[in-house]
Amino acid sequence: MIILAAAAGKNNELGRESGVPLWNLPDEYARFRKSIIGHPIIIGRKSYDVIREPLKGSLNIVITHNKDYNGNGALVVHSLEEALEKVKAEKIIYIIGGGYIFEMALPIADRIEISRIDASFPEATAFFPAFSTNEWTLLSSSKHDIDSRHKYAFTYEVWERKNRNLSI
Ligand SMILES: NC(=O)c1ccc[n+]([C@@H]2O[C@H](COP(=O)([O-])OP(=O)(O)OC[C@H]3O[C@@H](n4cnc5c(N)ncnc54)[C@H](OP(=O)(O)O)[C@@H]3O)[C@@H](O)[C@H]2O)c1
Repeated sequence: MIILAAAAGKNNELGRESGVPLWNLPDEYARFRKSIIGHPIIIGRKSYDVIREPLKGSLNIVITHNKDYNGNGALVVHSLEEALEKVKAEKIIYIIGGGYIFEMALPIADRIEISRIDASFPEATAFFPAFSTNEWTLLSSSKHDIDSRHKYAFTYEVWERKNRNLSI
């Protein structure tokens, strides 16, 4: 199963050019880390340049056109197809962004795990792709309110592709 895991603002904002995060939501990040642990993750080069080193507990695969890219411990590949080939024996594969990689992977994804942040971020330069409720079913939704550690409320949603091939 291929899962897209993201957090996005009201206008699908994911991040900005500088890489400085648009929000700091510790419970959201902790849930994300817990969900990917033990599964391979596929990430775009720009997003990997933000984290700079592999996320522990997962095989990290970075996609770049650059044949000389130093993955600093991550596996470096040059297409989504090559990334998926490396992990074809795995039952669960997480694709964790950014915008270019989500856009490329949306047509082949089985599930979307997305935290919808209840705020807008005009400075964003990377966006989650639009997807249609004609093609996706909302399986679950749970809200996290604003509190002393969370400046914005967010709703964690799990979407599944309609009519997906249940053998995978
Ligand atoms: N909120 C979230 O859930 C979330 C998640 C992830 C990232 N982010 C944020 O998103 C932003 C980065 O996203 P982004 O959309 O700008 O970039 P990105 O998707 O992370 O990476 C884009 C890069 O991936 C490589 N790439 C894309 N398509 C390729 C292909 N077909 N073949 C080979 N390589 C390919 C290219 O690397 P080269 O230029 O090296 O060739 C391209 O520049 C950052 O601000 C990050 O913090 C947010």
